[in-house]
Amino acid sequence: MLAVLLEFFQHSQWPLSSLAWGALPAAYLLSRFLRSVSDRRLIVSPTTERVLILGATSGVGRTLAHQYASRGARVCVVGRRKDKLDEAVAECGSFSRQSGKVLGIQGDCTDGDDMVNIRATIEKEWGGLDTLIICAGVSALQPLMCVAGVDMGVRDTKPSHATREGIKNAVDISNAALRGNFTSPFVAAVTFIPLLTNSSKSPSILLLSSVAAVIPPPTRALYAATKSASLVLFQSLAIEHPDITFTFFLPATIEGDFRSSAVDRHLNGSSPRLHEADPNKHGMKRGVVAARCIRAIDNGEKTVFIPRYMRIGQLLYWIWPAFTEWRARVKYNYSAR
Ligand SMILES: NC(=O)c1ccc[n+]([C@@H]2O[C@H](COP(=O)([O-])OP(=O)(O)OC[C@H]3O[C@@H](n4cnc5c(N)ncnc54)[C@H](OP(=O)(O)O)[C@@H]3O)[C@@H](O)[C@H]2O)c1
Repeated sequence: MLAVLLEFFQHSQWPLSSLAWGALPAAYLLSRFLRSVSDRRLIVSPTTERVLILGATSGVGRTLAHQYASRGARVCVVGRRKDKLDEAVAECGSFSRQSGKVLGIQGDCTDGDDMVNIRATIEKEWGGLDTLIICAGVSALQPLMCVAGVDMGVRDTKPSHATREGIKNAVDISNAALRGNFTSPFVAAVTFIPLLTNSSKSPSILLLSSVAAVIPPPTRALYAATKSASLVLFQSLAIEHPDITFTFFLPATIEGDFRSSAVDRHLNGSSPRLHEADPNKHGMKRGVVAARCIRAIDNGEKTVFIPRYMRIGQLLYWIWPAFTEWRARVKYNYSAR
């Protein structure tokens, strides 16, 4: 078949290269057209959409709640800190065009009882759910051997062994990172997938993952590994549940206080040292990230990198890992022994 096509083009008036150039804009226009007709807002209108945001007391989740409330959706915000939850609910209420559209439920996403309570409240108040957004997550900021109490810093001296206490501390921290970044989305999936499937005309789940889940960074080994675990979990769930549209959202650094949630305290309890540039000066704006999340859900996009060029970074890691590793050391200001 290919040989026949090649022969056709050799004898036709059209050179292959001009055909290829013509095909590119045609493919672009076709993708724009397909996207416009597959706009989920034609099925679930923004003013009737029922949105649950897990981890919405601060950061991107809270901004997402503002933006959904502004466009008239019913929004349920969830988090553990009661004072922040009350603030988020009040803000959403002021953005919402109608009263009674905002729910605030205090809860821990790793706790099955809390999640069942949220599900029951949503079923009672809204009769179902259209959109689940999982923002809840925790950071971890230290090189792994620091977490185990081993100083790898001095080039000409042999590092000491990790002590029993150091290894125990490392295991405790690893469990905390797993609870925050894997167990939370895991419990959410188990709790809400049947409700979404049964009650929405176009069920959708967005997992707020991280670019670190696919491009490994130094000083973030535990963070990257646990975000990666939940990403692959949800990628598998997308195959098991084709009736739900899954979006995997992979941002680089965002402004805010995410680093204050770090689970890797030193053995002496002091805060971890920040290696990268100040996220509040160099990170992406929360409003931009939240708006891109909503657009991805509306368009039914599968994997979204922000900034977009990070997609190339992921490819580059497989083609030329040494370059990506060098860039990662520069970004995180990390010098290996
Ligand atoms: N910030 C970045 O540079 C960056 C970059 C890439 C990806 N991300 C990802 O984006 C997500 C949000 O980050 P952010 O910057 O918005 O951080 P953030 O301001 O710390 O927000 C995290 C939210 O998750 C909630 N949360 C954490 N653990 C929870 C739990 N067990 N149960 C219920 N709620 C929980 C927190 O509320 P409570 O403490 O009140 O429970 C908070 O509302 C995270 O998953 C992170 O991995 C962040």
